[in-house]
Amino acid sequence: MTILVTGGAGYIGSHTVIQLLDDGADVVIADTLENSSAVVLDRIAELTGRRVPFEQVDVSDPQALDRLLTRYDVTEVIHFAGLKAVGESVEQPLRYYSHNLGSTLTLLQALDRHGIRRFVFSSSATVYGPDAAAPAQEDDPTSATNPYGWTKVMIEQMLRDLAAADDRWRIAILRYFNPVGAHPSGLIGEDPRGRPNNLLPFVTQVAVGRQNELTVFGDDYPTADGTGVRDFIHVEDLASGHVHALAHLRRTDEPVSTFNLGTGEGTSVRGLVTAFERASGHRIPVRVAPRRAGDVAVSYADSSKANDVLGWRARHGIDDICTDAWRWQRQNPLGYESLPARRRSARTQAPRRQRYPLLPALRLAGRAG
Ligand code: NAD
Ligand code: WQD
Repeated sequence: MTILVTGGAGYIGSHTVIQLLDDGADVVIADTLENSSAVVLDRIAELTGRRVPFEQVDVSDPQALDRLLTRYDVTEVIHFAGLKAVGESVEQPLRYYSHNLGSTLTLLQALDRHGIRRFVFSSSATVYGPDAAAPAQEDDPTSATNPYGWTKVMIEQMLRDLAAADDRWRIAILRYFNPVGAHPSGLIGEDPRGRPNNLLPFVTQVAVGRQNELTVFGDDYPTADGTGVRDFIHVEDLASGHVHALAHLRRTDEPVSTFNLGTGEGTSVRGLVTAFERASGHRIPVRVAPRRAGDVAVSYADSSKANDVLGWRARHGIDDICTDAWRWQRQNPLGYESLPARRRSARTQAPRRQRYPLLPALRLAGRAG
């Protein structure tokens, strides 16, 4: 019995793989590494004492999937692989529709051919759309404000149609709220490429000197301090939600079930910045700008269904989140590129200074932290 984790080298996937391995499961990762680093595989081995089989496979490639599914005795799948940048999806809608819908469709067809029908899908609170209620409940209407969000709405529909047509499937749709934080070791964490789109990675990069200041998108929302409110969920809690979801699929009779994974509590943008300053001892310079298009004022989960049915609940609050995110960023100021010199090859060491002119600032930040 092997669990196939697509996108398992990515941010949420890597944390989940560690928990699955710790749980004694056999895992194979399929990932193109287009938004992740092979270094994460070494870190997983370092943390778990197990080297997870890795296949550099695009899940849009049916032949490669057939080879993988023939080679490994896969019984269940967690499907993280996909593109996730909201702004990029607005600029490149066809790429997002083609990539996210195409890969999921190809994967589901391959699994069906191989008789593998336990499937966990990474959905998002973004499917509650611009008129999201707070707290959001699983049977609220779905919608989206951007092509990325629509791919999640459409894939969810694809999965419900599949489960309605063939009741051998056992599908869990997990709607994540705002995943943040890092493994408590500081060895695994979120490593966005380029300028971060999301709030906490931006804040941590300000703290290590990779960004000058945080732009707060709007302080005129109808919230206590005027900034947007979100349900920030520790990635370790999210990972544990997947372990619980797989256990649920093994015992349920329902072909498809949908769960919010959130804490049920909202924290404002300013509240998160204050918590991070407390956890890190760094002051985060802030500039207020107009609202960002497509943002809702308040988003948080009603996670009572996941609490009751999965027996899962989020354990970590905002202070743990900030402490762990800061440990990861402080230990890895350049993300997975920040390997200690003794571990880096000569080839990767040479161009490092050229590529990262901010390194002096990083050294200062490291001393302060
Ligand atoms: P990530 O980009 O860190 O991980 C995705 C991984 O999938 C990457 O390692 C990437 O290389 C790989 N990948 C992409 N396309 C692939 C393909 N066709 N075949 C094989 N591998 C491929 O993203 P993440 O933050 O870990 O998100 C995982 C999933 O959760 C995504 O589906 C995302 O949409 C969803 N999600 C993320 C968030 C968030 O804020 N991080 C919130 C809600 C939902
Ligand atoms: C949070 C708050 C911003 C950055 C996104 C996706 C969603 C899901 C999770 C994948 C908002 C404010 C942010 C910054 C800021 N991803 N902010 N300055 O937008 O709630 O959700 O990630 O499924 O689909 O939309 O998260 O972290 O981008 O923003 O003021 O530099 O922080 O306006 O109020 P969001 P976020």
